[in-house]
Amino acid sequence: MPTMNPTLEYLIQKFNLDINTRPPIEVGQINRTIMTKTLGELGFRVGAEVGVAQGHHAKVICENNPQILLYAIDIWDLYPGYEEYSDRIRKYYQEAQERLALYNCKLVKKFSMAAVEDFADNSLDFVYIDGAHDYKNVAMDICEWSKKVKVGGIVFGHDYKRSRGKYRVDVKDVVPSFCYAKEVRPWFVLKNDIKDPLFGQDNPGWMFVRQETDRT
Ligand SMILES: C[S@@+](CC[C@H](N)C(=O)[O-])C[C@H]1O[C@@H](n2cnc3c(N)ncnc32)[C@H](O)[C@@H]1O
Repeated sequence: MPTMNPTLEYLIQKFNLDINTRPPIEVGQINRTIMTKTLGELGFRVGAEVGVAQGHHAKVICENNPQILLYAIDIWDLYPGYEEYSDRIRKYYQEAQERLALYNCKLVKKFSMAAVEDFADNSLDFVYIDGAHDYKNVAMDICEWSKKVKVGGIVFGHDYKRSRGKYRVDVKDVVPSFCYAKEVRPWFVLKNDIKDPLFGQDNPGWMFVRQETDRT
C-alpha cells in the first residue's frame, strides 16, 4: 500500500477531512489567515503569489511566516482584456512595495506567464493563484504554475466561484476540469467560513497537494 503524502496527512488531521468522498472535499473552519499559518506549520520556505494587487494577502503570508521567501508576482498595469482596477492598478504597485518592504518578499512586476519561466520545475513549496479570473488565464496559471510546485507542496487559489457579471470569474469551471484531466485527487474547496480579521466575509478558495500520482 503506498504511503500517504505527509502534507495531505497533515491537512486531513488538522481539518478533520474525509478524503474518501467525491471531490471537491470541503474544508470548513478556515479563512485565508488560517490557511497562511498552515503553510508555516508545514515547514514551507519558498512560494509565490500570482496576482498581488495592493499586497494584502501577500502581507498576511509574510507576517505569519517570517521564514518564507515569497515571490509576489503581478503585472501592476493595464492590458487588453483585463479591466479590473483599471483606475488604480499602477497605484497598487507603489502600495504593494510599501506594504511588503519589511518582509522577505520579492516583487516581480511581470505577466504571470513570463514570470513562471524564471522558476525551475518542482522548486516551490506553494503557489497561490489569484490573478486574472477568466477561463484562459486561470487555466494557464494552474497548468504552468503547478509544475513549479514540488511533490508535497500546495497549489491553491482564491475565488472558487462562477460569475458572469461585469468581471468574469471562471475559477469554478477551470479547477474541476484541471483536476479531472490531470488526475489530481483529492482536491479541496476552502470554504472561508470563519470571518477573517483582514478580509471579512470572503469568497471560497480551492486547493490541492502535489503528489507523485498527478499528471501536472
Ligand atoms: C484579485 S487581484 C489580487 C489580490 C491579492 N491576491 C489579494 O488577495 O490581496 C488580481 C491581480 O492580478 C493581476 N493580474 C491580472 N492578470 C495578470 C497577469 N496575466 N499577469 C500578472 N498579474 C495579473 C492584476 O494586476 C491584479 O493586481
